[in-house]
Amino acid sequence: MVKVEICVGSHCSLVGALNILETLEELQEEYPDQLKIERVECMDRCGDIKNAPVVKVDDDLITSAQTQMVISKVMERIK
Ligand code: FES
Repeated sequence: MVKVEICVGSHCSLVGALNILETLEELQEEYPDQLKIERVECMDRCGDIKNAPVVKVDDDLITSAQTQMVISKVMERIK
């Protein structure tokens, strides 16, 4: 089971976190038993806006996250 924490706080939402979330949710429909998504209000990394959006894949913290990067990290762990 891969656990993804995604920050949906205001800073991260402003710079695309919700797009990442949407794609993750689609992936979860394909792998319902292997992917757990948790929304977090703020991961305290957005003091510097360049760090947003922030996503954690298991223990791997990703700053300035982009959809493709997050999805490939998740897929590496699912397969
Ligand atoms: S809003 Fe995402 S880390 Fe603060």
